[in-house]
Amino acid sequence: MVKFITISEAMQKGKGKVAVRGWVYRERGSNKLKFIVLRDHTDVIQCVLKRENFEDQWKDIDSLQIEASIEVEGTIKEDKRAPSGYEISVSKINVVGKSNEFPINKDLNEELLGDRRHLWLRSRKMSSAMKIRSTVMFALHEYMHKNGFTEIEAPSLSGASSEGGSEVFELNYFGKKAYLTQSWQFYAENFIHSVGKAYAMAPSFRAEKSKTPWHVTEFWHFEVEGAWMDLEDDMKIAEESIVYAIKKVLKENKKDLDVLGADISFLKKIKSPFKRITYEEAVKTLQNNGHKIKYGDDFGSAEERGLAKYYGDNFVFVTNYPLELLKFYHGEDLKKPGTGTNFNLLAPGVGEMVDGSQREPDLKKIVERLKKAKIDLGASDWYLDSRRYGSVPHAGFGLGLERFVAWICGFKTIKDAIPFPRTPTRLNP
Ligand code: 4AD
Ligand code: MG
Repeated sequence: MVKFITISEAMQKGKGKVAVRGWVYRERGSNKLKFIVLRDHTDVIQCVLKRENFEDQWKDIDSLQIEASIEVEGTIKEDKRAPSGYEISVSKINVVGKSNEFPINKDLNEELLGDRRHLWLRSRKMSSAMKIRSTVMFALHEYMHKNGFTEIEAPSLSGASSEGGSEVFELNYFGKKAYLTQSWQFYAENFIHSVGKAYAMAPSFRAEKSKTPWHVTEFWHFEVEGAWMDLEDDMKIAEESIVYAIKKVLKENKKDLDVLGADISFLKKIKSPFKRITYEEAVKTLQNNGHKIKYGDDFGSAEERGLAKYYGDNFVFVTNYPLELLKFYHGEDLKKPGTGTNFNLLAPGVGEMVDGSQREPDLKKIVERLKKAKIDLGASDWYLDSRRYGSVPHAGFGLGLERFVAWICGFKTIKDAIPFPRTPTRLNP
């Protein structure tokens, strides 16, 4: 039995006999020769077949279409003219699975590519993006484990909405109303009384009709919560875990970054700590740069992306938003009354990537804030038990995984950072 190796391993070997297998990436030929660029999960390589060696099989070889699966054996050598610098002179070929005419070509628009997403995932772009995504996910898990956080899950289905608002998906649960989770946070603020420091990597759902490049209706949410943590501890975990993941991608996904044409020198420059500014300073900076904004206004994506740009095209933490812009659970900064112990981490080109805060530990204050905002927690009242039974100072954050991955890859939309994006108009495949 021949031992198949990956294309990347074959190229490392560089000479002698090799056996590789994969899918036809490109093909062209004449009456006498067939050139096949073969693709596997590691790279592409040019294979040449001479008709004189394959008279019996020539009909099959000649009619090979893009994305047919094949196994080849032959001799590899360096060839500067070949797409990846190597070529295999094939002595044996086995057509494993023929392909119909592949329904993806250069002229497809976004809608058609969306319909064929399961096939589009075979592209080198998507394959590299998904590998980077996997590294990022693993790195975040690894960082949390190394730092004493316990991974703990919450349900995606709930009888009450957590963050509330109109952005919650409602569904029929045996005749009762149920909701898809928007965040793990309410559960986490209770878990931490058990495990101290907790994190999760799970999908969150948002019924947002907004069709921006930075929103999907189902995204993967990296959420962190820790007892006894304050705002500074919280920001430190956020920036360190981000830098940890970037470093791991730089180490393990060189080829993928290359395939995507990502800005590696820019990624290498990212170091913690990130710059910290207050909301008040951010408003001044925006005004100085011509934005029509005043203290008390929420930032839109133009402001968020602008800020990251004005502060050296780098990550920037914006803290101390006016309480009116915040949810009832964000704490108040007693040194700057009227503002929150909260932050948004803004990323260049993306805008908000992380949202976090030191939470309000005082039940009375929360109840007041809820009243003021006319919110009835209803079936989510259990959340407040975290404040009723031994409330402690604590903090946490949520990072949108796709926004982070898209930022690393230099993508213009998070839809390329998730295998099967869900948007208001896309539910299949
Ligand atoms: O700002 P958000 O809504 O904050 C929360 O859900 C908090 N409960 C998190 C926490 O403190 N545990 O969401 C957090 C992050 C955002 O900063 C953004 O990166 C991402 O989640 N996000 C989305 N990503 C893609 N599509 C959407 N529709 C998103 N909504 C939020
Ligand atoms: Mg937010």
